[in-house]
Amino acid sequence: MIFDLTEEQQLIRNAARDFAQTALKPGVIERDEKQQFPAKEVKQLGELGFLGMMTSPTYNGAGMDTVSYVLVMEELSKIDASTSVVVSVNNSLVCFGLEKYGSEQQKEKYLKPLAAGEQIGAFCLSEPEAGSDATSQRTTAEDKGDYYLLNGTKNWITNGSTASIYLVIAQTHPERGHRGINAFILEKGMEGFTIGPKENKLGIRGSDTHSLLFSDVKVPKENRIGEDGFGFKFAMQTLAGGRIGIAAQALGIASGAFELAVKYAKERKTFGKPIAEHQAIQFKLADMHTQIEAARLLCLKAAWLKDQGKPYADAAAVAKLFASDVAMNVTVEAVQIHGGYGFVKEYHVERLMRDAKITQIYEGTSEIQRLVISRSILDN
Ligand code: CAA
Repeated sequence: MIFDLTEEQQLIRNAARDFAQTALKPGVIERDEKQQFPAKEVKQLGELGFLGMMTSPTYNGAGMDTVSYVLVMEELSKIDASTSVVVSVNNSLVCFGLEKYGSEQQKEKYLKPLAAGEQIGAFCLSEPEAGSDATSQRTTAEDKGDYYLLNGTKNWITNGSTASIYLVIAQTHPERGHRGINAFILEKGMEGFTIGPKENKLGIRGSDTHSLLFSDVKVPKENRIGEDGFGFKFAMQTLAGGRIGIAAQALGIASGAFELAVKYAKERKTFGKPIAEHQAIQFKLADMHTQIEAARLLCLKAAWLKDQGKPYADAAAVAKLFASDVAMNVTVEAVQIHGGYGFVKEYHVERLMRDAKITQIYEGTSEIQRLVISRSILDN
C-alpha cells in the first residue's frame, strides 16, 4: 500500500493551496457577510482547469484523477467552502454526469463550456417534498412527441442563479416509480423557466441557493440524458461521486479550522504560558488531528476506488458521513480554543463552524449516508 502522492498530485495541491491563500482568503469574510457569489474567483478557477478537473481533455477538461480532486477540494475548503461547493457541483454532479451518460451531441454542446469553466452548471433533484426521498419527484416531464413539457418546483439548488446549464430530474411515468424518472438538460432563459429568490443561509453564504420554477417548459427530446426512465439511476450514480467531493469539503473545513486553532494556541497566553502548553488544549488538538487524519484517509480511499474503476458508492457514503461529523466536531472545538475571539468574524473559525453544518445535510443527510452504508453491508 502506497500512501505517497505523485509529483503531479502534489503540484496540483500546492496550486490550489496558493490560490486559496492569495485569491480566496482576502474577501472571504465580506462575501460571507454580504452573501456575495465569488464570481471573479470562480472564473479564475475555471482558467486553472479546476471546474472540469476530471473531465477528459477531449471535452475541454483537465483530465486529472479523483485523488487530485479531493486534494483541491480540501485546500479550497480550508479557506472558502462557498467557493468550493461551486467546484464540487460543477465537477462531480454536472460534468461527471454529462461525460459518463450524455450523448456525443450533449457533450459537444454542454459539457465543453462547463468543463472549460466558461459556464456553470447546477444539479436539480431536491423538491419541497422530495429531499431525502428522491424517488417522490413531483416535477413532471410529459412526453409530447419531439419535446417534453416540464412543470414543477426544485428547492435548494446550488448555483441556482449563476448557472446557465441545469440538469433537472423529473417524473415522466408516475406509475413506474423510480423507473419512470428522467434527467434533462435545461438552459437558463428557456420559456417558462423562472429562478426564485435567493435563500438567506446559516453557512456557505457566498454560494447562491435558489428554488427553480418550471411552468410548461418545452425541453427538446435530445436533451434527455440516457434511455427513457434512466433519470433516477443517473441521479444516484452521479451523487455517489458528488459525496466524495462533499466529504473532501468537510475535510477541508475541519483542517482549515484545525490549522487556525494550532496557530492561535501557540500565540495566546493564559496563566503565564501559551495555551498550547496546557494539557486541556493539547488533548483537544490531539483528538482533532486524529479525526482529520482518519477523514482524509477515507476521502482518499473513496477517490482511489473511483480512479481504479472499482465500486465506490459505499466508500463515498462512509467518507461523507465521517468527514462531515469531523467537520462539525473540529470546528466547534476550534471556536472553543479561540474563546471569545472564536465568536467574532475576523478569526474565521465561526464561519467554518457555520459552513460545516451543511456537509451533514446536502448531497444526502447523514441519515441517508447511513441508509446507503447499511444497505451495502446487508446486501453483501
Ligand atoms: N448507483 C446506481 N443505482 C442505484 C444507486 C447507485 N449509487 N443507488 C440506488 N440505485 C438504484 C437501485 O439499484 C434501484 O434500482 P432497481 O430498482 O432497478 O434495483 C433504484 O436505484 C432505487 O433504489 P432504492 O430502492 O434504494 O431507492 P430508495 O427510494 O430506497 O432511495 C436513497 C434510496 C439512497 C434514499 C436515495 O433516495 C437517496 O440517495 N436520497 C438522497 C438524495 C440526495 O442525496 N439528495 C441531495 C440533493 S443534491 C444536492 O444536495 C446537490 C447540491 O446542491 C450540493
